[in-house]
Amino acid sequence: MQFALKFPFQDTDILIVSYPKSGTTWMQEIVGLITNRGDPHLIQTVPNWTRAPWLEQYYAAAVLEASSIIPRVVTTHLHHHLLAPALHGSKAKVIYVSRNPKDVAVSFYHYHKMANFLPGPGTFPEFLNQFLEGTLCFGSWFDHVKDWSSQTATMNNLLHITYEEMWLNIRGTIKRISSFLQNPLVEDEINNCVKHSSFSSMKDNKMVNHTTIPPEIIDHSKSSFMRKGMIGDWKNMFTEEQNQHFQNIFKSKMQNCPLEFVWEV
Ligand code: A3P
Repeated sequence: MQFALKFPFQDTDILIVSYPKSGTTWMQEIVGLITNRGDPHLIQTVPNWTRAPWLEQYYAAAVLEASSIIPRVVTTHLHHHLLAPALHGSKAKVIYVSRNPKDVAVSFYHYHKMANFLPGPGTFPEFLNQFLEGTLCFGSWFDHVKDWSSQTATMNNLLHITYEEMWLNIRGTIKRISSFLQNPLVEDEINNCVKHSSFSSMKDNKMVNHTTIPPEIIDHSKSSFMRKGMIGDWKNMFTEEQNQHFQNIFKSKMQNCPLEFVWEV
């Protein structure tokens, strides 16, 4: 953690930031493809936690030291106030990924079932309460999204992309990201990025689908990492009452936040 808080960002670094289950791995795949002009070799041969390590993980320092990948791509789930000092004055490019919180909560619930290093999720209603109270690891979704997304007003090296935007218009989103990274691509290269970052390609890619992780750590008999990959799965889990309760809390916590989310398609 200390490593993350004092991380010496280089101006050429790319930082992917998200609340868990918002499409982090998808963005790592897209960035890995864009920086390699659509060539899938890197993303198919190097695990995502090595090519875009999480700064808050104990192995990040060693991985980055051993890596010769340029530009450096790093990832974090940390809240803005924790990383602000390290980012101050840096020209590193920051991509913030958010997703509608009902789908985040459902995805996170299933992930807690399979990730043995996390506490068991309990029942879905219990888990949903923890999500709304901000007591899960990485804390409040509301604070995370409000604090990071509000930085777009002052940080011109910050791009905010939503999971739903990627889902609904992957081609346009890849173009937007490649232009932000000052890495414009030709049509064939964009086609390759689209192809290799699709849900089905990623589900088959052992470098991101977590199937190489031992079952004691990630138990694929309980759920899968590339689980459904859709917008609106919350409708299969939420009762009407849970939805109403969620809406009320969302409305009060996000009242001064202009962000709009796509909840279903
Ligand atoms: P679901 O559990 O709803 O399926 P993260 O990488 O932040 O942990 O997010 C994981 C979520 O992103 C999972 O959501 C996963 O299926 C989804 N995801 C990953 N790659 C995707 C892709 N190419 N297209 C759509 N969804 C994707």
